[in-house]
Amino acid sequence: MSFIVYVPSDSGAISLGANNIADQLVTEAIQRNIDVTIIRNGSRGMYWLEPMVEVATPTGRVAYGPVKSSDVSSLFEADFLNAGDHSLALGVTEEIPYLKNQQRLTFARVGITNPISLDDYLAHEGYQGLKNALTMNPADIVAAVTDSGLRGRGGAAFPTGIKWNTVLNTPAEQKYIICNADEGDSGTFSDRMIMENDPFVLIEGMTIAGLAVGATQGYIYLRVEYPHAHRALNTALQLANQHNYLGDNILGSGQQFQLEVRLGAGAYVCGEETSLMESLEGKRGLVRFKPPLPAISGLFGKPTVVNNVISLASVPIILDKGGEFYRDYGMGRSRGTLPLQLAGNLKHTGLVEVAFGLSLRELLYDFGGGSATGKPIKAVQVGGPLGAFLPEEQFDTPLDYEAFAALWAVLGHGGVVAFDETTNMATMAKYSMEFCAIESCGKCTPCRIGSTRGHELIDSIMQGQDLDKNIPLLRSLCDTLLNGSLCALGGMTPYPVLSALNHFPEDFGVKP
Ligand SMILES: Cc1cc2nc3c(=O)[nH]c(=O)nc-3n(C[C@H](O)[C@H](O)[C@H](O)COP(=O)(O)O)c2cc1C
Ligand code: SF4
Repeated sequence: MSFIVYVPSDSGAISLGANNIADQLVTEAIQRNIDVTIIRNGSRGMYWLEPMVEVATPTGRVAYGPVKSSDVSSLFEADFLNAGDHSLALGVTEEIPYLKNQQRLTFARVGITNPISLDDYLAHEGYQGLKNALTMNPADIVAAVTDSGLRGRGGAAFPTGIKWNTVLNTPAEQKYIICNADEGDSGTFSDRMIMENDPFVLIEGMTIAGLAVGATQGYIYLRVEYPHAHRALNTALQLANQHNYLGDNILGSGQQFQLEVRLGAGAYVCGEETSLMESLEGKRGLVRFKPPLPAISGLFGKPTVVNNVISLASVPIILDKGGEFYRDYGMGRSRGTLPLQLAGNLKHTGLVEVAFGLSLRELLYDFGGGSATGKPIKAVQVGGPLGAFLPEEQFDTPLDYEAFAALWAVLGHGGVVAFDETTNMATMAKYSMEFCAIESCGKCTPCRIGSTRGHELIDSIMQGQDLDKNIPLLRSLCDTLLNGSLCALGGMTPYPVLSALNHFPEDFGVKP
């Protein structure tokens, strides 16, 4: 009898020992003369359970985790290969509430397939979207994306269809598709998970984007800190080229699209789309003035689509199942699903893809399980280092772009970092100014100089110096950053700073 065991090859799981567990499972199986095939799948995104090992059984996969080296022998003793009982047994994987209560559209294959197997991708509805797109004219592909209501998942939530339409309607000999895979936001890892655990879905999405706007060249701008994603992408690109899903004659259609990965050198501001293009062109990552929009004059001055990994990875299912299918999920103008990333002081950190509309409280407690320390959650920062801190009174807010905007907050790339009551919010505000000072590209004065002055000012406030003068001064400085900065790095640093000051004035020594 032969058994199949899945062990994730995701970097999160590897950092928790998945490679050792895979090796040990093989060694132990050989010693026991049992025929076991190990498949390296992607992580299901339940990181507190990693390394999570799954076994294929007639009633579906059953999971065990988190598995330590010292557990491997006892798993065999407990007959885990036949779903035997063990203290680490988690039952049928798909029935684990954290997973069962999600709506996985973009992440539909993640954890299920072998990420670098084209056959597995095809066996799980892969490349259906591209096949449909090849039968459509460019305007209809763009219309499907517009109908879906998809908005950019990189931060600004700009409608993807409108961006594509501008590029489609801008005549040029050469156009480009850029995937923004710089993923610099604190507490975020959904891009990394897609690239490591289902790289073909991103490649397919970019190929469809190329057909839609008439671009024949694409680049994935990947942060250098993601070596596992780099390897997975390059392997998948090679296979896609070999089998004509990329190249000069895509699936015999006569259409072409070339795609390659370029590594960034690790600067937060290089995630900003114009700075990213400077970097891709081999220059220093300085933010460009807008206009012109990248859609009109982008990379090397040519019309360019710049989209986040998740935006592009959401395109194949839209072209496969139709715009209406996707827009059926969500609320208001926030259509489809958002892959949220739970991080910080939470019991159950990981990836949660759900339709817009769930409340922040449900996300933090039903999925996140509350704080890891067991202390009350004091604040959460949603949307990366430039996102506002939300206090407990705002936890019933639905996850919706407009509902967050009404609170002067952002959903951004869906990063959610929780802090318990021991956190001092003035320290967090000071850190935001320091972050801006370190990461500023230096092109404009409010951000370059204001962030350093802001850092010093919060320091003085924390020492109780001249609060009557320094608090208004901090507000005035934030106003200058907000209205005078060239890009959102300087322009949004006031979000965390002022939300911390407004919701937690006592941490700044101010009476509420
Ligand atoms: C300082 C800064 C950093 C950014 N970093 C990222 C990033 O890492 N990934 C990303 O997709 N977008 C990032 N953005 C947003 C991009 O400029 C751009 O809006 C996005 O890539 C567009 O893709 P989308 O429409 O699919 O969201 C950043 C913006 C700023 C101002
Ligand atoms: S706000 Fe900061 S990062 Fe953005 S252009 Fe100005 S100096 Fe550069």
